Amino acid sequence: MRLIWSALLAASVSQLAFAQSSAEDEIAKYRAMLQDGNPAELTQMQGEELWKTRRGTKNVSLEGCDLGKGPGVVQGAYAELPRYFADAGKVMDLEARLVWCMEHLQGWDTKPYFNKGAFNSSGPGSDIAAIATYVAAQSNGMKFKVDTSHPATRQAIKTGEELFWRRGGPFDFSCATCHADDGKRIRLQGLPNLLKAEGAATGVATWPAYRVSQGIVRTLQHRMWDCYWQMRHPDVEYTSDVVTALLAYLANLGNGTEIKSPYIKR
Ligand code: HEC
Repeated sequence: MRLIWSALLAASVSQLAFAQSSAEDEIAKYRAMLQDGNPAELTQMQGEELWKTRRGTKNVSLEGCDLGKGPGVVQGAYAELPRYFADAGKVMDLEARLVWCMEHLQGWDTKPYFNKGAFNSSGPGSDIAAIATYVAAQSNGMKFKVDTSHPATRQAIKTGEELFWRRGGPFDFSCATCHADDGKRIRLQGLPNLLKAEGAATGVATWPAYRVSQGIVRTLQHRMWDCYWQMRHPDVEYTSDVVTALLAYLANLGNGTEIKSPYIKR
């Protein structure tokens, strides 16, 4: 009799635990299933072609673009971004640097990128996510190591930290409101604690990612824009210094963690 009791008890306890964790488990399973055939790989291939094709008013490819490790070097470049670029005189993340190269090297008019063009699935500006996916994938399996030797990078990290904690907008939210505790969630979505290495790691080291819910590859720039929207702040401008500072701060927190890119997310 006692045996049956304890068996029953064990079963009901595990059922309870199952109810709590099942939603996340299911999402994890789904992710594992899709990881084998991530649609972002197609985007990555498109990006590679765009990187290598002569384009723009100057009709050159992006292979002359210096992502910090010398012109055309893509291997491992993403792992060290954001970084300071002397030619631009500022700290840039991957997408800011790509836009810079498109403008200065290829002679593009990059204005369409800034009016949400970079977030569209087609039309002017939409090529950027594909190029970013290609470049980031060349750091897949490597570890984040943001180079903090330049004072401008250290300043960006500091500014990013201040921005992370700065409250504002109609809800008086900061990034920390949603991302500085363990186990927070909105509806079914777990909110990563970005202040812990593993939270910062999945937060920044798993982009660009194919968003199943949106049917498109999204980048970290888009995630930042989306989170400012979550806070009901005005739209944050594409590749603005605010975003770069936040990304420098987060990437630096995630230093030493493995990059998994492209990834797949809800
Ligand atoms: C109102 C809550 C809220 C606020 C405030 C917020 N975010 Fe988020 N954040 C989210 C949600 C929701 C997600 C998506 C979680 C999901 O889909 O799994 C997310 C995801 C992220 C991710 C990606 C995490 C991952 O694992 O892919 C990063 C990075 C991030 N936020 C950074 C920020 C930064 C930086 C700020 C401040 C500018 C901020 N967030 C403010 C709700 C918020």
